Amino acid sequence: MHFLAALWALALIWSRVCAVPHDDDDSSCSNSITISSQSDADRLGNCDTFNGNVTISSSASGVIHLNDVNEIRGSLTSTQGSNLTQLIAPDLDTIHGLLKLEQMDSLVNITLDSLQQVSGGITVTGNPNLQYLTFQDLKDVYGALELTGPFVSISLPSLDEVDGPTNIRGGGKMSCGPLDTLQSQGVYRGGYHCSSGGSSGLSPGAKGGIAAGAVVAVLLIMFLIWWVLRRRQQRLKHQQGHDHPNGPAPFAVPRVADQEKSTRYQTVPTEEHRSLSPEEPPSLNKLSHCMNCSCLPIKPV
Ligand SMILES: *[C@@H]1O[C@H](CO)[C@@H](O)[C@H](O)[C@H]1NC(C)=O
Ligand SMILES: *[C@@H]1O[C@H](CO)[C@@H](O)[C@H](O)[C@H]1NC(C)=O
Ligand SMILES: *[C@@H]1O[C@H](CO)[C@@H](O)[C@H](O)[C@H]1NC(C)=O
Repeated sequence: MHFLAALWALALIWSRVCAVPHDDDDSSCSNSITISSQSDADRLGNCDTFNGNVTISSSASGVIHLNDVNEIRGSLTSTQGSNLTQLIAPDLDTIHGLLKLEQMDSLVNITLDSLQQVSGGITVTGNPNLQYLTFQDLKDVYGALELTGPFVSISLPSLDEVDGPTNIRGGGKMSCGPLDTLQSQGVYRGGYHCSSGGSSGLSPGAKGGIAAGAVVAVLLIMFLIWWVLRRRQQRLKHQQGHDHPNGPAPFAVPRVADQEKSTRYQTVPTEEHRSLSPEEPPSLNKLSHCMNCSCLPIKPV
């Protein structure tokens, strides 16, 4: 009995002693840190929860692993100009501040497969070699979601809610389809915009061609509208010229039925009608005029 109790006490003490380095109150887990190399990153290995900001220095390069960190109470950000190629944090599930990774020319892969919640918003922009982005477990973003770059695919299969504005722009091959589906499910609460093949996807020549095409199309439409309006006006003038100046005609002037008739009508100058004496009955005017031209079939009413 005594022996067992002693063994239990020993085990308890042993576990306490070994727990000390993992204590979240350790000062190394509460001061902000700047990571320039893997050995800097390894210092976070003691911290399940890190209380400060994590900044990736501009002098970082290659692959950085952030192992064993579950939670960052501050932000995870990068400084412009590093040669970081890949960021891997397999255990990180919560960032209370921002996740901001931008302006890194060498970055090709971000692997944050456990990340579920980011409370300060996510910005991944201006990384010219980052083509694939997958946040496998990401559920909640309390803030803006801004992802722009030459993406071929962006995958957010678990996304449930984004509070702030969502703005996504990828390369020409990227499909917005799966992201649009999330929109129909009401995931984006603060507005949503997705486009592909934006500024990075088209050459200036192609853009010029599209602009020229648009101008030509607009001119064509304007010409068509002008032509239709003009034709209409001509018809109206023509009808008025025959029906109105001397009151209602006693017989019906045939409506313009086909192109040939209408052009013949148009050759008749309207002045001729006016110059005729107003004493003459209008019916005679018209009749004589039309008989002169020997042109129009006249239907009695
Ligand atoms: C983390 O950075 C933000 C600004 O980016 C600052 O307001 C905050 O105080 C920082 N937190 C710590 C623990 O240094
Ligand atoms: C990044 O790479 C470039 C070219 O390879 C090099 O000139 C530069 O010094 C590197 N920067 C860092 C911080 O390693
Ligand atoms: C990114 O890294 C993960 C894990 O290392 C790997 O499975 C994936 O294939 C990589 N993706 C690309 C595009 O390199």
